[in-house]
Amino acid sequence: SHRPIVAPSILAGNHARLADSLAQAEQTDGVFWVHIDIMDGHFVPNLSFGPQTVADLRGGSELFFDVHLMLDNPHLYIDAFIKAGAQNVTIHAEPDYPKAETLRQIRAQGATCGICINPGTPVEMLEPYLEAVDLVLLMTVQPGFGGQSFREDVLPKIEKVAHWREQHGYQWRIEVDGGVNLETGLRCRDAGADTFVAGTAFFKHADRAEFVRTLEGAPGE
Ligand code: DX5
Ligand code: ZN
Repeated sequence: SHRPIVAPSILAGNHARLADSLAQAEQTDGVFWVHIDIMDGHFVPNLSFGPQTVADLRGGSELFFDVHLMLDNPHLYIDAFIKAGAQNVTIHAEPDYPKAETLRQIRAQGATCGICINPGTPVEMLEPYLEAVDLVLLMTVQPGFGGQSFREDVLPKIEKVAHWREQHGYQWRIEVDGGVNLETGLRCRDAGADTFVAGTAFFKHADRAEFVRTLEGAPGE
């Protein structure tokens, strides 16, 4: 089983001072990952960052760059984001593109790979990829914007995927993303998630280290 990890989502940072927001996350005890949301205005109704932004952030950070491609054609951008410093690249199962080939390409370029589904997508859509990934991301909001409310109907999907992992001895992480705060995060953890993307709740929290400790669980807890 994986050590629980909180991955602050930089989408909730200040887009005119992203390096500062990244540094705030990095200076928080227990933060080792940052989640970077990439949006194309097609797969999701919003735009966020490009490879150049990731490359410019890379130089100033030791964090693990967990890049979430909310793109219709992620296969066209794999090389650019990994060259920019992405260390995990997660792609969505919903759009029509060569997904298995793209997962292989991500690993061939030296990054770990993840597959992601939206709240309304059945977990069965993950099945063809479960032998080929390092991470499964279950969206707990409809992607596109931070600050949305957690979708409770995703909890049974987390349990189902966690059961598959147990049953088959898969080694991938289970990541959740969207509306994750202390309350919803602990429910996701109980359901089997071990990696928690938190944007709004993390950046707005009065004591970020305490937020992280609670979700990651203090050692020996
Ligand atoms: C939504 C993004 C999430 C978002 C999470 O499309 O994929 O990573 O930044 O933000 P919060 O935690 O504010 O819901
Ligand atoms: Zn995300």
